[in-house]
Amino acid sequence: MGKTEQYSPLPPWTRTDYCGALRATDVGREVALWGWVQTRRDHGGLIFIDLRDRDGIVQLVLNPAHSGQAHEAAGDVRSEFYVAVKGKVVRRAEGTVNAELPTGEIEIAVSAFEILSASAPVPFQIADGEATAEEIRLKYRYLDLRRPEMQRNLRRRHQALQAVRSHLDQNGFIDVETPILFKSTPEGARDYLVPSRVNPGKFYALPQSPQLLKQILMIGGFDRYYQIARCFRDEDLRANRQPEFSQIDIEMTCPRPEDIQSIAEGMIASVYRSVLGIDVKPPFPRMPYSEAIERFGIDKPDLRFAMELKNLTSAFAGTSFKVFAEILARGESVYGINVTGDHPLTRRELDELTESVKSRHSMGLAWIKVGEGGAWQGPIAKYLSDGERAAATSTAELKTGDTMLMVGGQPDKVRPVLGDIRLQLATKFGLDKSDELKFLWVVDFPMFDYSAEDRRMVSVNHPFTAPNPDDLAMLESAPLKARALAYDMVLNGQELGGGSIRIHSRELQMKVFELLGLTREEAIDRFGFLLDALKYGAPPHGGIAFGVDRICMMLCGTDSLRDVIAFPKTQKAVDPMSGAPSEVDPRQLKELSIKVTS
Ligand code: AMO
Repeated sequence: MGKTEQYSPLPPWTRTDYCGALRATDVGREVALWGWVQTRRDHGGLIFIDLRDRDGIVQLVLNPAHSGQAHEAAGDVRSEFYVAVKGKVVRRAEGTVNAELPTGEIEIAVSAFEILSASAPVPFQIADGEATAEEIRLKYRYLDLRRPEMQRNLRRRHQALQAVRSHLDQNGFIDVETPILFKSTPEGARDYLVPSRVNPGKFYALPQSPQLLKQILMIGGFDRYYQIARCFRDEDLRANRQPEFSQIDIEMTCPRPEDIQSIAEGMIASVYRSVLGIDVKPPFPRMPYSEAIERFGIDKPDLRFAMELKNLTSAFAGTSFKVFAEILARGESVYGINVTGDHPLTRRELDELTESVKSRHSMGLAWIKVGEGGAWQGPIAKYLSDGERAAATSTAELKTGDTMLMVGGQPDKVRPVLGDIRLQLATKFGLDKSDELKFLWVVDFPMFDYSAEDRRMVSVNHPFTAPNPDDLAMLESAPLKARALAYDMVLNGQELGGGSIRIHSRELQMKVFELLGLTREEAIDRFGFLLDALKYGAPPHGGIAFGVDRICMMLCGTDSLRDVIAFPKTQKAVDPMSGAPSEVDPRQLKELSIKVTS
């Protein structure tokens, strides 16, 4: 312990204010503060300290003539010492006002100063904009959390959840907690399993979402439910995915999709109003899934910029350009995007794009540039006839200076590739940095997709999603064409939330399990409790779930979930601070009847 640090678990005096909250209107007041030393500067006997707490920074001044003992104590402090001070709020001398600091008009003339806790030298400076490796930030998360940006982000998260709870409460939703130790609820990822000591060889699965339980709450008569639910998914991680994340989980009895969408829009509008003071105006536009894929190559289109996909198949029908002719002869398509002249691409950039499409997707990329007078330039221009050029020019609305990128093949393969290029180029041109908020509902998702890997149909949403009643007959005749009553809310290319109307008929639920390749026994073994519940007057129901972390990411203008979660995991699902996951005592494994084989 340092000479001026007297250990006591109790503070020497009560705080009157937060550092960052003091203003010129406080001049003359005696205040008591606690906080961390950001910096200390000595100026010929005068000591200046920037003191930081969760609200911001205020400047302390210690004058040897007035501060005596306090001045001596302050001489010992370094960055991140935690101190308690008392003093008077005074106006700063002319010429020393700091316009960049909210507290910049005043300072605290300190009369008492105590070190409550010393700090070892810190591994990085606690300030925004410091280039610190993320691994280090996460290892010393308690220091990183002191940064103003992290303080602001987590406070916004709190405000967002307050707005959510209040909106749902006002609309008659009841918060019900569901278990964490449960049975597998498939949402498309691997489960995290927890062994049961008292039932050797048996496991709980941590919920991928409370999907089945919220449906059962509807059958149990709760009518309108919500929960800020923790979900766990063992999947490959990306910047917008965490193994453990939170959902705003909502379910209601007898809704039409519009009812759920309208409650969800109101909730999001209330979040934006209360956190950022921004008015977003529901209802948000709706776009069928098939249109999203056709126009943007993705089911969560970013509508802040154009560069839409154009189907050029009929423009090139009958072409003698061999590459396209072979594609069209197979009944496949050619799609293009028009990269307009305000974002010209150099030959080198085009070569790099071509190379990346080849290596990432094993596909060819063709391009042409439109020169003066509409003349097409580029290696393939000479193979295309005037008629083909005119048709493509009209379809893709080409003008002088524009570049058109084209990819041919099966539409299901080609559109995502161009959709990907569209996003890559938007990032390159900075189009995805705009503050605009482009909300969208993507609706009419298909029920099923075919998984070549599993050699069976899989649910696009989850197996409990109801088919569109108009497409019921297709479940037999053309299941891959059947649409679901499912919807996603998308904001600027991010999926914020997704939901659906559910199947409430036991028979139909069995049919869907069968289409997914589950035998009757497997269905009963895994979902028997739901199938049983569906026998007893299950009301029609539906709902939605939003990613809390994703919403907060948008509210904070960051592109990493780790900036809005207090204790996130790395891309490798590791917590560098605690070292989790870690090995456990062999005795614990023995108790659990578990043998580690690798
Ligand atoms: P879904 O799987 O679409 O739907 O999840 C809903 C929302 O949760 C967020 N999300 C994630 N956020 C961070 N990290 C992850 N790994 C992660 N995975 C999902 C997304 C997503 O939109 N039971 C259904 C909902 C329903 O049908 O009501 C479900 O879980 O923002």
